[in-house]
Amino acid sequence: MHQGKNNSMVFYKKYKRLNILLYLFVKILILNSCNLNNFKSQMKSYFGSLPNGEKIYKYKLSNGYMSVEIINYGGIITNINIPNSQGINTDVVLGFDTFHQYIEEHPYFGAIIGRYGNRIANGKFSLNGINYQLAKNNGENSLHGGLIGFDKVLWSVKELDDHKDPGIKLTYFSENMEEGYPGNVQIDVTYILTKENELKILYEAITDSPTVINLTNHSYFNLGGESSGDILDHFLTINADSYLPVDKNMIPTGEIRNVKNTPFDFSEMKKIGLEIETQNNQLIIGKGYDHCWVLNDYGKGIRKIAEVKSINTGINMEVYSDQPGVQFYTGNFLDGSLKSKKLNKYKKRSGFCLETQHFPDSPNQPSFPNVILDPDKKYQTQTWYKFSTKTY
Ligand code: GLA
Repeated sequence: MHQGKNNSMVFYKKYKRLNILLYLFVKILILNSCNLNNFKSQMKSYFGSLPNGEKIYKYKLSNGYMSVEIINYGGIITNINIPNSQGINTDVVLGFDTFHQYIEEHPYFGAIIGRYGNRIANGKFSLNGINYQLAKNNGENSLHGGLIGFDKVLWSVKELDDHKDPGIKLTYFSENMEEGYPGNVQIDVTYILTKENELKILYEAITDSPTVINLTNHSYFNLGGESSGDILDHFLTINADSYLPVDKNMIPTGEIRNVKNTPFDFSEMKKIGLEIETQNNQLIIGKGYDHCWVLNDYGKGIRKIAEVKSINTGINMEVYSDQPGVQFYTGNFLDGSLKSKKLNKYKKRSGFCLETQHFPDSPNQPSFPNVILDPDKKYQTQTWYKFSTKTY
């Protein structure tokens, strides 16, 4: 009897202890999930002002592992921070630490490009029998939307707080005949950072009369870190069997050329620098790679189009897109005149771009996929950059 009472006391004490432990465990779980929610949220901070006083803000999207920073001027991605294989935070995009450098001359670092990314020959095209003349800002061509493209305008920003992944939606109204393009166009660009370490960029546009459109992002990546030197040791795969050769003015000739047995073959992983100095007419014209690859499986929705890795940092980037082409550009025009965030010089080839897009000069090349946007249609495309880190 006495023994029985003792046993039940022991059991009761154990039960109570178990209950307390369970309570503490649940509490820790709740606290942790609150912390995760905090990590997920986007942060807004003042970054600088335009000469007219308009304020520029930086929006930081974090998922607790990596972060992406974007400003409302040009929708520019200023920083992408991710731990390298040693756990050291590494910024993998070229850019600046102060706002005034972004309003000075620079080659589209991190910016949204539009209305028409890439080149339009002689800055001219005709649509429904009407001729349009754009500004020539690249020799005889119009490049990346003209003199004041979407990279140099102020976007309005909506912070997305649907409690899922952190994100922002940028909106810009481009007026009829802005930079010579017809139609009042509303453009929305959404940046989302997922738990799977994907930076998703969703592009949308509507117009009130027929126009042409080709939006992209002009981030310069260096997976070794933005100040680490050139990107020639990065390994690259592009899922494309062919590319578009260009004339001496960098306008596609119309030929779709097979990459087999040429320095343009990245269908299997290859070092970017392996053949870049080859005496190849196209590499000479581009001063390196500055061409549009014709991506495989266009029309089948979003698919993996490229992958790049740095063995030094272990940082890997996969690119997914629904677009027909990607301009692979190896920063051939960087010349050391711009200072990096760590105050080094951005020398030739210290970054590479993978600008997912429609083919250059499509408004003048009827054999290329169509870039016309009509009022009854919605332009909708997306590109994802997915990051991961490995130890080699
Ligand atoms: C694009 C072009 C390049 C160059 C850069 C900016 O990617 O294809 O030729 O103009 O932009 O310097």
